[in-house]
Amino acid sequence: MAIKDTFGRTHTYLRISVTDLCNLRCFYCMPEEGVELTDKAHLMTLEEIVSIAGEFVKEGVDTIRLTGGEPLVRKNFAFLIEELAKLPVKLKLTTNGILLDKYFELFEKVGLKHLNISLDSLEQAKAAFITKRDYFERIMRNIETALERGFTVKLNVVVIKGVNDNEIVDFVRYTKHRNLSVKFIEFMPFKGNQWDWSKGVSEEEILTDVRKELGEVVALEKPAHSTSNNFQVPGFDGSFGVVSTVTKPFCQDCNRLRLTADGKMKNCLFARNETDLLSAWRSGAAISPLIHQNIAQKKYSRDGMTVFAKEEFEQNRTMIGI
Ligand code: GTP
Ligand code: 5AD
Ligand code: SF4
Repeated sequence: MAIKDTFGRTHTYLRISVTDLCNLRCFYCMPEEGVELTDKAHLMTLEEIVSIAGEFVKEGVDTIRLTGGEPLVRKNFAFLIEELAKLPVKLKLTTNGILLDKYFELFEKVGLKHLNISLDSLEQAKAAFITKRDYFERIMRNIETALERGFTVKLNVVVIKGVNDNEIVDFVRYTKHRNLSVKFIEFMPFKGNQWDWSKGVSEEEILTDVRKELGEVVALEKPAHSTSNNFQVPGFDGSFGVVSTVTKPFCQDCNRLRLTADGKMKNCLFARNETDLLSAWRSGAAISPLIHQNIAQKKYSRDGMTVFAKEEFEQNRTMIGI
């Protein structure tokens, strides 16, 4: 049975957070005081991730994106990937890129081809300022290697006024001789992340900057369910896109489901209602009816945007917790 909500949206894309640990400390993702780590006993084991993912696949999920925290810091991540690769799904990964060099071969072996790599600055000092750690050179090397080895690479850039908005054009230039896509992400509000839209940069502002320096850009066709509006500078090998959650929400054809590292299903990045699939799984209860009950409560577009009232999103999790 398809995972359909009351607005007729069918959900085939599951994002699984495999850990709430990370080897970086990006300020827009983690509150300054840090986060309380989930007690290990409440986290899904690797076997539980594979089993619960399998339940989603039975209901129609055909794409799984692994996220975190930083997924590659999860112990025995290789085992997890090998097991998930046995499911009939397209596997994708979102990573900060630090540990990629340890995994290229494995990813090639299991057919994981899609890598989204977070990189907020092309300047070492600024990257270190944003992430509070300095792994810039290793990340840059890994991006180049990923391209050489033929992975599909997207770079995620969270654009913040006064921090990295002066690098928008540099990032687009980076796509001139590289077949990758740079995704500029509008700064989004989550618990404790100092969100304030005066620090946000809109899709319109981003496009204006690019046009001013590089001339007209071509709008590319938007693939179904994509989070980004995509563009290309004529003659460039790569492309760029904008994830404009704040100024142009794309909830209309959303097909995403989320599973947090502690086994809670969320039907939207901004949804506060969660269904505890892990406890159900451990007690031997059926998962399928819970998935359908949860999706029946999924809201639509404008409802989602009410989270931009501060009190509301403060009741959600931190981004790293999602
Ligand atoms: P693909 O479309 O599969 O390439 O990936 P993606 O853009 O969904 O994944 P990625 O992990 O690279 O996320 C990039 C940005 O999109 C992040 O800032 C995410 O938070 C945002 N994003 C991902 N899924 C959703 C969603 O369901 N709703 C909203 N509003 N933003 C999302
Ligand atoms: N706003 C926008 N994007 C964010 N990310 C983390 N926190 C935020 C936020 N507050 C991005 C990361 C990563 C992706 C999964 O989410 O940079 O690339
Ligand atoms: Fe880690 Fe990604 Fe959050 Fe940065 S944005 S702290 S890399 S999980």
